[in-house]
Amino acid sequence: MYGQPVYILKEGTERSRGKDAQRNNITAARAVSEAIRSALGPKGMDKMLIDNFGDTTVTNDGATILKEIEVSHPAAKFVIDLAKTQDQETGDGTTSVVVIAGELLKQAEDLLDMDIHPSVIIEGYKLARLKANEILDEMAQDVQFDDDKILRAVAETSMSSKIVSGEKGSLSDILVKAVKSISEEKDGKMFADIDNIQIQKKKGGSLTDTELIDGIIMDKEFVHADMPKKIEGAVILLLDKGLELSKTEIDAKINITSPEQIQAFLDNEHDMLKEMSDKIIASGANLVLCQKGIDDIIQHYLAKKGISAVRRIKKSDMEKLAKATGAKITTSLEDLENYLGKAALAEEKSIGDDNMIFVTGCDNPKAVSIIIRGGTDLIVDEAERAIHDALCVIRQVIHDKKVVPGGGAPEIQISQKLGDFSMGHTSKVQLAIEKFAKAMEIIPRTLAENAGLDPIDVLSELHGKHAVQGGHVFGVNPFKAKVDDMAKLNVFEPISVKKQAISGAAEAAEMILRIDDVIAAKELSGGMGGMPPGPGGMDEDY
Ligand SMILES: Nc1ncnc2c1ncn2[C@@H]1O[C@H](COP(=O)(O)OP(=O)(O)O)[C@@H](O)[C@H]1O
Ligand SMILES: [Mg+2]
Repeated sequence: MYGQPVYILKEGTERSRGKDAQRNNITAARAVSEAIRSALGPKGMDKMLIDNFGDTTVTNDGATILKEIEVSHPAAKFVIDLAKTQDQETGDGTTSVVVIAGELLKQAEDLLDMDIHPSVIIEGYKLARLKANEILDEMAQDVQFDDDKILRAVAETSMSSKIVSGEKGSLSDILVKAVKSISEEKDGKMFADIDNIQIQKKKGGSLTDTELIDGIIMDKEFVHADMPKKIEGAVILLLDKGLELSKTEIDAKINITSPEQIQAFLDNEHDMLKEMSDKIIASGANLVLCQKGIDDIIQHYLAKKGISAVRRIKKSDMEKLAKATGAKITTSLEDLENYLGKAALAEEKSIGDDNMIFVTGCDNPKAVSIIIRGGTDLIVDEAERAIHDALCVIRQVIHDKKVVPGGGAPEIQISQKLGDFSMGHTSKVQLAIEKFAKAMEIIPRTLAENAGLDPIDVLSELHGKHAVQGGHVFGVNPFKAKVDDMAKLNVFEPISVKKQAISGAAEAAEMILRIDDVIAAKELSGGMGGMPPGPGGMDEDY
């Protein structure tokens, strides 16, 4: 018996244990973090990503970069998931969270080299991340709902690292107005659901032509040339039903033996369509918005009565239209008058080379749209991502009512205060907290490096400023390439973006450190089920 190997794992299973497992995971996670470090901050570079269909994306957004790159290592995938969570929870800080996680792991490696047990590192990191939240609370500044200056500053800070930064002033004005107009009071607190802001993209013009519309926009035209292009006092019918005759479901054969019979058959069809038109006309609607198709004959009858109609509208737009105009979407043509909604104006206008329909002056003022313009599709797409981030940070500040200065100021503050906090713990835990404190410097360090500054000088200057009472506002000004007062420069971020980035990164690092055994089953050959390799073929759905 003895001396015989005992196999408990299936043949082909790969296993790495202890330090090997840890090192592999750390290396993979750090590689992802290193890859996007150069994108951080206003002077961060953009990445051009080309997928295997040849579609190109140019972006500076951490979550988007990580979504597009294809990694196979599980620990690397885990870090990418971290950016996804950050995006879902707060909408911004996706590059930061990954960069911080990478640095926490790098610092942990030093501790592992000193033979400190991972469980001690994990304990120290946990204490440090909880303390970091307290330090953020202490340095935060309160913001009221009507403090547009700070709300705009937060939006501008979020946009300053993106392609839209040249227009951030005018855009932040639009975005703050948009979020405030859809905000509602619930249980004494202001609440903003930014899904109520409709975003439309239209290539052409420039970013400065981006507009806020008080209402809903459809990338559509009226179906018939004779229909009115401008309807004042629109009475709106929302139909989720095709205005056409459905084809017979069963393959029926009709025997026609004389020309009269053909005529009778066609007349019958015409009558049915006419009857549908009459029902709509009788309802009193002057604007028909249909999710499905509209037959030519119906188009003709509606146009004759001066009723405008749009077909094949997206379901999500139909829902927004229903909310905005008070109309109820109906699937039948009976009792239509009970389903109608209202808007002051519906109008077809040309935007760029195309026409779009604007429904404005709606009953419900909590329906707004932003129409994004820009020279190329790449610009419009990246502008949409930047605007999404900015809308999220405005929402976050409305919810948390607290901001912290940006530019690496909170990270330096945490780094310094954790130094004091580490005293009084056992020597090894103290070391772990100190390493956590050191890891926080990665944000100002990277901002400085990306702005071409010497990181050592910058960090020592920042520590000097933060050591003095009231110095917590100092961070890196990448535009002037110097240490500067972020509050004076109006560089602010929502406290929840920072809290989520630091806690999320720390939790991820702790989880990776906790793994000491990796058991990987043999890969199934052809196990992808014939899917193409690369993004889209994987089970990652983002
Ligand atoms: N005008 C500015 N001056 C200094 N720092 C800024 C400025 N604008 C943004 N930052 C900083 O840049 C960092 C965010 O960079 P960004 O590329 O948007 O990454 P993330 O995906 O993490 O949000 C934050 O630390 C923020 O404070
Ligand atoms: Mg950002």
